[in-house]
Amino acid sequence: VVSSEGGYVPPRPTTLPEEQRRLERQAQALWEAERGLLTRSGLEPGQRVLDLGCGPGRVLSRLSTAKPRLLLGVDVSRPFLKEAAGLASVLQADVARLPLASDCLDFVYTRFVLRHIRERPAAIAEVHRVLRPGGVFAAMEPDEASLQLDPVPELWPRLFAGLTQTAVRRGGDPFIGRTLRRRLSGMGFEIVSSEIIPISTDQFSPSGFVQTFLAPGARPLDPDLMPPDMAQSAWEAVRQWSSRPVAFGYGVCIFTAARKVG
Ligand SMILES: C[S@@+](CC[C@H](N)C(=O)[O-])C[C@H]1O[C@@H](n2cnc3c(N)ncnc32)[C@H](O)[C@@H]1O
Repeated sequence: VVSSEGGYVPPRPTTLPEEQRRLERQAQALWEAERGLLTRSGLEPGQRVLDLGCGPGRVLSRLSTAKPRLLLGVDVSRPFLKEAAGLASVLQADVARLPLASDCLDFVYTRFVLRHIRERPAAIAEVHRVLRPGGVFAAMEPDEASLQLDPVPELWPRLFAGLTQTAVRRGGDPFIGRTLRRRLSGMGFEIVSSEIIPISTDQFSPSGFVQTFLAPGARPLDPDLMPPDMAQSAWEAVRQWSSRPVAFGYGVCIFTAARKVG
């Protein structure tokens, strides 16, 4: 089992409760849209369902309402899995090396995970292996090139560039959303749909948008790209931005569903 990488800070005992709360807010905000998309992609009662990179299980608990025959969560993080354990069967494993039999699942869902991992092709190949022929893989990931804040907070362009470059250095891909269709088509899947899910400060307060989606505590930033004191000032400027009545921000996630061919 490897540790989490890419543009995500794995939870530590001190940060775990806040990160769980953030993921819960994120799930609350997006679930209604996701539920519709999952159902249209073929999620139905009686299936064997995997949540890949399930974290503390904020989506596992919601997937259980679809009444699966088997609900399984996989993640590398032991502290997260302790939280998820009461909600479904859970396994500590790397998404690129699933300890599961071939063709054993009907539906695999993953959200905000592929963007963080180095071994994306291996993870997609593993999903393909464990799905039965005709089974569905649905993935929701951001395309952070869409992220806009107006008026632009001081230091934000440099902070954003630093966060992006740090994630890419660690094997992540903050722009992965737009590539899901191409990636899955090239790996033995036929595309069912690609949909855009907008997120904006109109749905949340600007400060909710910052805490939940920009997630200052969950994103690493290499100090050679921005010294820590400057990073602190830059995040403070973003917080101040979020208290302005005129603040407006948005971004999109891409939900792509694909069926295993063969
Ligand atoms: C941003 S969180 C998303 C959690 C959950 N999918 C959600 O949407 O609430 C990213 C998750 O990916 C997990 N993760 C990162 N790299 C992983 C890997 N190589 N194998 C399994 N899980 C991984 C992390 O531990 C974390 O739980």
